Amino acid sequence: MARLLILGGSGFIGSNLIGVTLNAGHTITNFDRPGTSPDQFNAHIAYRFVPGYLNDNSHLRNVFNQEPYDCVVHLVSSLIPSSGYDEFFNDRDVNLTACYEIVKNMMNNGCRKIIYFSSGGTVYGNNGKEINHESDDLCPQTYYGYSKLAIEEFLKFSSRTHDINHLIVRPSNPYGSGQNLFGKQGLISVALGKILQNQPIEIWGDGHVIRDYLHISDLSHAISALIDSKEKNEVFNIGSGVGHSVNQILDIIHNVTGLNTGVVYKPSRPVDIPLNILAIDKLKQKTGWQPRVDLKNGIALLWKEMQLNPQRFN
Ligand SMILES: NC(=O)c1ccc[n+]([C@@H]2O[C@H](COP(=O)([O-])OP(=O)(O)OC[C@H]3O[C@@H](n4cnc5c(N)ncnc54)[C@H](O)[C@@H]3O)[C@@H](O)[C@H]2O)c1
Repeated sequence: MARLLILGGSGFIGSNLIGVTLNAGHTITNFDRPGTSPDQFNAHIAYRFVPGYLNDNSHLRNVFNQEPYDCVVHLVSSLIPSSGYDEFFNDRDVNLTACYEIVKNMMNNGCRKIIYFSSGGTVYGNNGKEINHESDDLCPQTYYGYSKLAIEEFLKFSSRTHDINHLIVRPSNPYGSGQNLFGKQGLISVALGKILQNQPIEIWGDGHVIRDYLHISDLSHAISALIDSKEKNEVFNIGSGVGHSVNQILDIIHNVTGLNTGVVYKPSRPVDIPLNILAIDKLKQKTGWQPRVDLKNGIALLWKEMQLNPQRFN
């Protein structure tokens, strides 16, 4: 069983991943901002929370000095797809400089494996492909996508110059338990949040934009498979491999909840490329993983969890 250091484990993806990896028998150190440790894990014997900021080198040194790790999972990001130049510029210490410090600390710690969360929805950009494979052209159109690509390149460089094994993962659009219902990211969760508040759902554009949606448990199990795998210095898309338009998603949501609080269509934004679907054959072949949660069932499950466990979504 592996000793994992999860950077940014208190967020949506991290908290789900911690649940899955604890169940798999790994020991987890979660490094995240002070006061963010998810309550449900605090009493678990194989879980430890180390508070700190990624952009503070002394905090990073502190967590790497605590014990040897087998694998780092890097989830921290201060940007979202709609972030502009000012956010990108102000947060470069979190987005780029910290990667150099992570690699340096890994070398000192003896840890040789890092799984980095890039973005399947933004690094390919408008590259003219209907389905994106890992080897396709990378044409990000947002500072978020550009920042992900820059970190991907830094990790590839680190593997060439140091004895570091990187796995870059490019997730599509995850949804599910623990996602912020009232945030700026995640169509399915935000739409369900609006319905919960009896408010209309706001959509950028005419609803024809197509995305690849993946249930968070499928994403967490994909990462768990990569933690166990012997793959080295590879890039993996993680998605469902199937596209749905925004309007199709809204139909499913109205159908599942039995509620329709209205939809407001707003002018489309340049960041919203028309089509993004990920090819997932590589991950399936290399690890045996495959998505298991059907979209309609996944949305129904999320809606049920929102009623039963509302504090998970605040
Ligand atoms: N959610 C998505 O739709 C999606 C899709 C593709 C890729 N990703 C990527 O996956 C990763 C995780 O996404 P998420 O949705 O769980 O994000 P999230 O915002 O829910 O979690 C990020 C975590 O990082 C922590 N963090 C932020 N700045 C920090 C800092 N300076 N020091 C220490 N911790 C800090 C936050 O406290 C939070 O717990 C991100 O890199 C994101 O870009 C997310």
